[in-house]
Amino acid sequence: MARLTDFPLHDGGACALPVHAQALAGLDYTPEVAALTAPLYERVRHVVPEVEWPAIAPLVADILRLKREHDAVVLAHNYMTSDIFFCVGDFRGDSLQLAREAARTTARVIVQGGVHFMAETSKILSPDKTVLLPSLGAGCSLAASITGADVRLMRERYPGIPVVTYVNTSAEVKAESDVTCTSSNAVQVVEWAAREWGTDTVICIPDRYLAQNVAANTRLKIVTWAGRCEVHERFTAEDIATLRATYPGVVVLAHPECPAPVVAVADFAGSTAALADYVAQKKPARVVLLTECSMSDNVAATAPATDFIRPCNLCPHMKTITLAGIRDALLYGREKIEVEESVRVRAKQAIDRMLALPLDKRATDFRTGLAPAQVTVFDAHAHIGA
Ligand code: 13P
Ligand code: SF4
Repeated sequence: MARLTDFPLHDGGACALPVHAQALAGLDYTPEVAALTAPLYERVRHVVPEVEWPAIAPLVADILRLKREHDAVVLAHNYMTSDIFFCVGDFRGDSLQLAREAARTTARVIVQGGVHFMAETSKILSPDKTVLLPSLGAGCSLAASITGADVRLMRERYPGIPVVTYVNTSAEVKAESDVTCTSSNAVQVVEWAAREWGTDTVICIPDRYLAQNVAANTRLKIVTWAGRCEVHERFTAEDIATLRATYPGVVVLAHPECPAPVVAVADFAGSTAALADYVAQKKPARVVLLTECSMSDNVAATAPATDFIRPCNLCPHMKTITLAGIRDALLYGREKIEVEESVRVRAKQAIDRMLALPLDKRATDFRTGLAPAQVTVFDAHAHIGA
């Protein structure tokens, strides 16, 4: 079996071909490739026209070969395009599920089908493994909104208040935090932190909308940061009214990174995994997922009786991850994600505290709205009520 030390033998930078041509060089849709990939095509038939499969199948076959050679797994987030999600993803799910897989996989190489903060999380949890992110362009507007110095400043202003940090942040920010959370456990983690620290206030950063949706589901006071997801902040309550008028009976599901007025008028709000579970269990006749576009394609594969309405908000960061990029990542061993050890150890403590909490099987429905939200958006110069 080839070892990781084999990666440097293939120096991608030395190749003069354009990226796409590099990816396809020597890859043909042979009868062997057709036979090997035929069962995989059945998983994506609903989104990939038959005429396009001969261009995709050779890449899929090559990635399967490279994964075996390098003892690699692909962790595919729910926002990956269906070719990645169903054809080369070994584990699929939301960011909490992928973090758990990163911690327990025995593979030597993890290829992150997701964005930079997810790859960093994998490296923090599995420092002995090689973690590859196929594109360094795969950032996140939430992760970019806050630094470690910002968190230190908040701690100075709110001494003794626990800091709960969304996983959509850099390793440096996690290292300054007490515990991390994801959209599938944010309320649970915030309440745990208040109990552990004995406070009635919790800092929940950096997504102001997630914090508002959490605050509506707890009696705690929340201090947050002015971060926003550039994909989810674009949905409005008016969009939902228009959808309901245009598609009578449509079931509206929203991610909790959407603004609170959107979540308030949706039928259910939860993490990407919770939204997928809702469709699988309730089998609505017609549904709209207010989240990233590719989710609908992926959920539709297992819900043939459901009609998906697709308002399309693409995450430009997630969409920098492509099959060709995954193949190059495995071929050239790039881009290797590293986290400085002193940062990693502190960030791991915050993630481990989250992972140690019991799995709450009941998906958090952010719509239940226990209490009026008490949220303060922190500003370095002033405090503004949200
Ligand atoms: P999930 O944790 O729900 O998968 O969300 C991650 C994300 O980036 C949503 O925009
Ligand atoms: Fe970040 Fe939003 Fe993209 Fe998720 S959808 S990775 S929160 S920018």
